[in-house]
Formats: sequence, C-alpha cells, structure tokens
Amino acid sequence: MPGMPGDARPNDQPGARRPVRVLIFAASLRAGSLNDRLATLAAGVAAEKGGVVDRATMADFDCPSYDGDVEGRGEFPAGAQRLHERVVTADAFVIASPEYNASMPGVLKNVIDWVSRIRPQPFNGRQGLLLSASPSMVGGNRGLWSLRVPLEHLGARVYPDMFSLAQAHEAFDAQGRIANATLQLRFEQTIECFLDLVEAAKHYRALKKQWVEFLGEQPNAATDRVEHTPVEA
Ligand SMILES: Cc1cc2nc3c(=O)[nH]c(=O)nc-3n(C[C@H](O)[C@H](O)[C@H](O)COP(=O)(O)O)c2cc1C
Repeated sequence: MPGMPGDARPNDQPGARRPVRVLIFAASLRAGSLNDRLATLAAGVAAEKGGVVDRATMADFDCPSYDGDVEGRGEFPAGAQRLHERVVTADAFVIASPEYNASMPGVLKNVIDWVSRIRPQPFNGRQGLLLSASPSMVGGNRGLWSLRVPLEHLGARVYPDMFSLAQAHEAFDAQGRIANATLQLRFEQTIECFLDLVEAAKHYRALKKQWVEFLGEQPNAATDRVEHTPVEA
C-alpha cells in the first residue's frame, strides 16, 4: 500500500525490486518446443525486470503415470519430488504450456497430480503466470483455461492475465524475441506486472490465507485438509 511504513523499495531507487524467485519451465518434452522458446524469452525478461529466475525443463519433472498404490507405499517419482522442491523454493512459477486437444498436456497434469499429494502442498499460496505458444490462431489459450482449474483448486494465485502466442512457429525473430514489436512489449509488460504482484504478495502481504482441499465439506476431523500460508514477520 503506498504510503505505508516499509513500502519503500531498497535504497529508494525507482524500479529496484525486492527479491522474488520465479520458477520457469515449458510443459513440452520436445526438442525445439515453441513453448520452451517462449519460456526462455520469459526467463530473460523476468531477469531483466529484477526477478531471480530458476529455469527448468519438463524433462526435469517427467513422471510415470500417477498410481495410488505407488503413493500408498510412500513412493513418489523423482520428477515429482524435483518439481515439489523447486516450487517450494520459489515465490512464483511461470508455465509455458502447449495446448493438446483444447486442454493441457497429460505430462503436465500428471506431475501436478503427483505433486499435489506431497506435503506441504506447494502450489498453495504461490503466484502463477500461464503462457502458451501454438501454431494456431489462438495460440493455445484454451489449454491455459483448463490448466487454471487444478492450479486454482490447489490454492495457487493464478494471475488473471495470460499470454498466448499465436502462429508461434513464425513469431520469433533470430534473437528469440517476438518479431512483432507490439506483442513483444505486451509480453514484457505482462511479465513485469506479474513480478510486481509477486513482490507485493511476498513483501507487503497483509492477509492470512488458508487452503481448503475439499471446499464445501462439513468441517470435521475426518475430512479436514486445511493448510495455512505462513505469514512472514
Ligand atoms: C496431441 C496433440 C494435440 C494438439 N492439440 C492442439 C490444440 O488443441 N490446439 C492447438 O492450438 N494446437 C494443438 N496441437 C499442436 C501444438 O500446439 C503444437 O504441436 C505445438 O508446437 C506444441 O507445443 P511445443 O512446440 O511447445 O511442443 C496439438 C498437438 C498434439 C501433439
């Protein structure tokens, strides 16, 4: 809140940013992935705008299909453990996701399902930004609406704006930027505004939040699965 004690940025330098750590990856295993190129561009812009970037790939997080019997034995695939650890150590995450059949790729949903079973459930309370790239005219945007559902269910604060790069197979220039200058600027502004929100949520947070896994359940010991977001001193 402007004018509140403690809201001055370090050294009062305009534009200086308090530390925010952002995990960035694309949900495609394919070499030459358009979404991975968009994730690389996002990582560069986020670093330029003062974010601390943890750049990952989908290969880091790839898992066998979720199996409740495996979980029942207390086993979690290494890919899920890696994503869990990297979300836990981040303040925010950016996912550039392909659209498969108007939805998210199974490889991404699968690892989200695995990670949702590890405690602390790490998406809860974290800020997320969704990007997509597709050769189509709508840039894979429908897939992002489906991706919102599990992430918001898990308590992630998914940024209202999304960025979908249409005709992505011919949208990048030789430097990996978006060739259309207006779109490139819009992309940069989306990342910068998102980082502003992450910074505010981390450093100026005033609300205590809780995540309830099964909304609408009658509160009782058998069904309660509630986690509280720790409030920093
Ligand atoms: C199984 C499958 C389903 C797809 N469905 C869609 C779709 O619904 N909408 C779309 O825009 N592109 C769709 N595509 C095309 C992808 O957008 C395109 O292959 C894109 O390059 C994938 O992202 P990547 O380059 O990051 O791997 C589909 C591709 C595959 C393999």
